[in-house]
Amino acid sequence: MCGIFAYVVYGVERSRDDIAAVLVNGLRRLEYRGYDSAGIALDDIVNPSTGERKPLVIKGPGSVGCLAEQVATALRSSPNFKVRQHVGLAHTRWATHGAPSVENSHPQASGPENEFLVVHNGIITNYAALKQVLGKRGYQFVSETDTEVVAVLLKHLYLEMKAVCDTVSFPRLVMLMMHELEGAYALAIRSQFFPGELVACKRGSPLVLGIAYHDGEQVHLVQHSEPAKTDASRSPASTPGAVESEGTTRAAMSAAETATANGRFESSAVAAARQRDGLEPASSGSVAKSTGGRCFRRRTPRRHSIDFKVAQVNLDCELPHGFSFNTSTSAPDSGMGERAGGVELFFASDVSALVEHTREVVVLEDNDVVHASADGSVDIFSFLDAESQSLLTQTRALCTLDIELEQIERGRFEHFMLKEIFEQPESIRGTMRGRVQPATGTVLLGGLRERLDDLVRSNRLIFVGCGTSYHAALACRQLVEQLTELPVSVELSSDFLDRACPLFRSDVCVFVSQSGETADTLEALRYAKRRHALTVGVVNVVGSAIARITDCGVHLNAGCEIGVASTKSYTSQIVAIIMIALLLSADRLSKQTRRREIIDGLAALPTAIERVLMLNDKLRMLAVGVLRDAVSILVCGRGYQYATCLEAALKIKEVSYIHTEGIHAGELKHGPLALIDQEMPMIVFATRDNGYEAICNAVHQLLARGNPQRMIVVCSEGDGHFFQGLGVGTTLEVPHTADCLQGVVNIVPMQLIAYHLAVARGLNVDQPRNLAKSVTVQ
Ligand code: F6R
Repeated sequence: MCGIFAYVVYGVERSRDDIAAVLVNGLRRLEYRGYDSAGIALDDIVNPSTGERKPLVIKGPGSVGCLAEQVATALRSSPNFKVRQHVGLAHTRWATHGAPSVENSHPQASGPENEFLVVHNGIITNYAALKQVLGKRGYQFVSETDTEVVAVLLKHLYLEMKAVCDTVSFPRLVMLMMHELEGAYALAIRSQFFPGELVACKRGSPLVLGIAYHDGEQVHLVQHSEPAKTDASRSPASTPGAVESEGTTRAAMSAAETATANGRFESSAVAAARQRDGLEPASSGSVAKSTGGRCFRRRTPRRHSIDFKVAQVNLDCELPHGFSFNTSTSAPDSGMGERAGGVELFFASDVSALVEHTREVVVLEDNDVVHASADGSVDIFSFLDAESQSLLTQTRALCTLDIELEQIERGRFEHFMLKEIFEQPESIRGTMRGRVQPATGTVLLGGLRERLDDLVRSNRLIFVGCGTSYHAALACRQLVEQLTELPVSVELSSDFLDRACPLFRSDVCVFVSQSGETADTLEALRYAKRRHALTVGVVNVVGSAIARITDCGVHLNAGCEIGVASTKSYTSQIVAIIMIALLLSADRLSKQTRRREIIDGLAALPTAIERVLMLNDKLRMLAVGVLRDAVSILVCGRGYQYATCLEAALKIKEVSYIHTEGIHAGELKHGPLALIDQEMPMIVFATRDNGYEAICNAVHQLLARGNPQRMIVVCSEGDGHFFQGLGVGTTLEVPHTADCLQGVVNIVPMQLIAYHLAVARGLNVDQPRNLAKSVTVQ
């Protein structure tokens, strides 16, 4: 939901056109996060004789492709000058406040002079109150966005500070501004008052910093001159993907809460600034405070405070696929040494925009404030200490991305969705790799090892997720209940929150999310933590908020998913949850036969999917010939296939815009049969399991009322002739597997039907209207 990208050049020669190309390309990588509007800000020469530079803002509704054309046109009319220092911003928008328009596109400005320019991902929930107060002070607003308030507030605070302080520091200003903001945000900010500087900060929305060095240039980036006393690279908080320890999480959360609670508008912040701004703490590099395993450093007069140590991350075999991080521990002279050369910094909502520039990244945490100064140095601050508002420098691990460019490119496929559907045999192998041991009948999940006893002893399992992730949990409920013999419920994150679901210490809450950033699920997780339930993450994106905040968890290792419609994550989520159930029931003698059946089924699953993918041509013809012009489609099943119905309906409706409804076969007689007429296409899951007889009855009931030629039955291999004998128009025979895994096989033809329907209807498959990949707003 919105993608932000910022590009800082220091000490490396770049032409303005190069900079524009990097910004636009960064947006292309993030476009799946929102595609209503796009914009960039970069320098332009306004006075050729003096070389004076002013920000050039190009933005508007439409895709990144449209923006690229506008940028090319705008730049053609002025000289393509070269710079060795530059700060550029870029944004791709999913509208929350205000329809797509030039005014509502980002970067948002503090006024016509563009004194402050801001790109934002998230929602400022108190923006209306802030706008009102600022309005009373004479500030004008031209957009309907919440983000414009940030830019105007910065200008206001700056002018107030300037009136009482000789010098105003950019990061301090941003921290003061953060005290006034409520909601979730990742922000990147440039200002004419701070030429050559950029500040980025985050709370609740993702932000990653990538660093590319250019040795041999004239610029120095120096490491800490003394190593941190607490090795932050060992701390759970900086362990990408391994889920945070409880202590660290609490520290981080209470910090966020304290900071928010202390936010007041104007007077207190400005008064505090008057007392302290410009007064750099005198202490030199001493460790000020160590909380919950994190190391904070006071800001020192020295300029360079990123911890350049390669992460000494304690990763287990759970993480090596997709967005994972280098596990090597080569930090020969940790914290010492000097690095000469220019530097390029890339700030992005997600690492996919960084991969082509650098592998060295810092995953930023809530309340981090990153300051790229005009001298090429970088500091990461926290305003954790809300009381004193002193600048605290954070030590963050520098990690090495282990992801290939091909993973985020379409390759030979026309769309990401199709690529990701076809990747499923491999993504499922990735989910199981090193974890499922068919030879011994065991399952190992390193991310749960330390909390296994707590999990086994819990009283209740509650799965929480949205959309496809919710469906994945629903698809596993029966099996988890059966193997663990615990009560299992599956909750929609938003409903879970609305009901303030009662939770106890003995409860286990499992948060299922591809992105690990979904706002409702993240909020539900915070709620569960406040109630001291044990929290488990089932997450694809390593280093995401849910992966870091949960007490323990399992990564999907499905690889990067870019298509807005979730496909390979769904099948990997089911496999991951089933592995959890297998692990929790490992010691139950009575379950061994069942466990063996499932483990054998898991081993054969990738091959089964490969066979389903061979139906692709038939499915394309079905989509074009039978379904393309449908007004509405009904998808029906029961037992394990009920979740498949819901997921199939979601997939079809979200990419083809055909209304599609997933219905439990047992419910047909209780209302939905009224929908059946000669036009209505009916898809029925009738693969073999203990509900087979009942689903055959449903097929008869539907045939008696609807048009047999418009019925599609997904059945087990060898059963096609039976259903054809009943008059069913189309049968799709799929490989048989264990009942709890059948949904993984059965959803694949539905994903392909959804895809081909969207293509046949001329729709943008990877960017369905009104949607975005990562739903970071509630
Ligand atoms: C549908 C889809 C969405 C997501 C939902 C949750 O294809 O992708 O329904 O499943 O927005 O997202 P995550 O899994 O990232 O929490």
